[in-house]
Amino acid sequence: MFSQDLVEQFKLRETPFYHYDLTRLRETIKVVKSFAQEYDFDIHYAVKANSNEPILQEINQAGFGADCVSGNEVKLAAKVGFAPQSILFAGVGKTDKEINEALAIGIKAFNCESVQEIEVINELAEKANQIAEISLRINPNVDAKTHKYITTGLDENKFGINQIDLPELVTRIKDFKHISLTGLHFHIGSQITDMKVFQGLCLRVNEIQNWFTDHGIHIEHLNLGGGLGIDYLQPDEKAIPDFETYFNIFHQFLERKPDQKVHFELGRSIVAQCGNLISRVVYVKTGINTNFAIVDAGMTELMRPALYQSYHQIDNLTSHSDLRDYDVVGPICESTDCFGKSVALPETSRGDIIAIRSAGAYGEVMRSQYNLRDHHEAFYSQL
Ligand code: LLP
Repeated sequence: MFSQDLVEQFKLRETPFYHYDLTRLRETIKVVKSFAQEYDFDIHYAVKANSNEPILQEINQAGFGADCVSGNEVKLAAKVGFAPQSILFAGVGKTDKEINEALAIGIKAFNCESVQEIEVINELAEKANQIAEISLRINPNVDAKTHKYITTGLDENKFGINQIDLPELVTRIKDFKHISLTGLHFHIGSQITDMKVFQGLCLRVNEIQNWFTDHGIHIEHLNLGGGLGIDYLQPDEKAIPDFETYFNIFHQFLERKPDQKVHFELGRSIVAQCGNLISRVVYVKTGINTNFAIVDAGMTELMRPALYQSYHQIDNLTSHSDLRDYDVVGPICESTDCFGKSVALPETSRGDIIAIRSAGAYGEVMRSQYNLRDHHEAFYSQL
């Protein structure tokens, strides 16, 4: 991924910055698209994973739709060129302003997470003289077996409508004249690496869908969310996630009704492996028990290690000497500002260029300006 020429270009730039390899992104998109097409599945890219315009443009050109979680994401997706009818709007706390904006743009559907929200959408759609299409996000109580902070489909989570509330909701929905219920939506969590979890999800979705059919409600589209994990320890060897197995599970275990559309909202699996956080070593400091490689990127640029105890592979792109162990830390005034402990790196010195890998998803979008940090524009490369 890092040719000598690319490293030379990195050296000329102010660090830290995000680097995106558009060639890798295109290769990934090509693979997702071919497996999704094989089973006639639709992809809506989860914009929250990375909303940089050049990335969105690549994804839009591939013909995917957009899964948005704020009015600003909806507006950006439309601006970048996603057809309004390929935009979905999800989230537990959509405001009136955001709902009105989405109605004005004419998005495909709202993924709704409570009866209170449906009431408001009905009211606002009436004012706009429209019928709003909605999907119900249902909490299927399936354990995603991922980090607790990115699990979303358990009873204890704030997301979705609980199955116990469905009978009352279905009765009430009939009174909402400006709502058309056309779909069901599920998303149980992110960075899911145990594929059996998706099999369990399919079985639960089948049961729930049958319940709706028994109540005379036809489901035109099923949305299975995102969640496919990536291999953070092998960013090059496993650059493209196993979309084949993933889609095959849904093909095998999901009971699809005739003419039913099936959607996925993939984020991380599409964009994570094309992004790297590029940083410079500012100092190498000898500690009591360890050496610290202090780099100029911090939790302000990549929050995942501090927030989820995640590890992103760290490569020194400019030194090829013998390996030594370093605690790789950032400059922010927090002890959690650490990218990795006892990381084996070639002997590292001030000025070396470091790549923190697999940072294309939930990296740049989650950055902050804490400590009044500078921000440097992203750098895009392609072969
Ligand atoms: N659909 C819904 C409703 C979601 O909430 C999410 C992610 C996705 C789709 C996309 O999931 P993906 O395919 O990317 O797993 N910041 C965390 C991840 C938060 C995920 C939020 N929801 C992290 O850095 O790990």
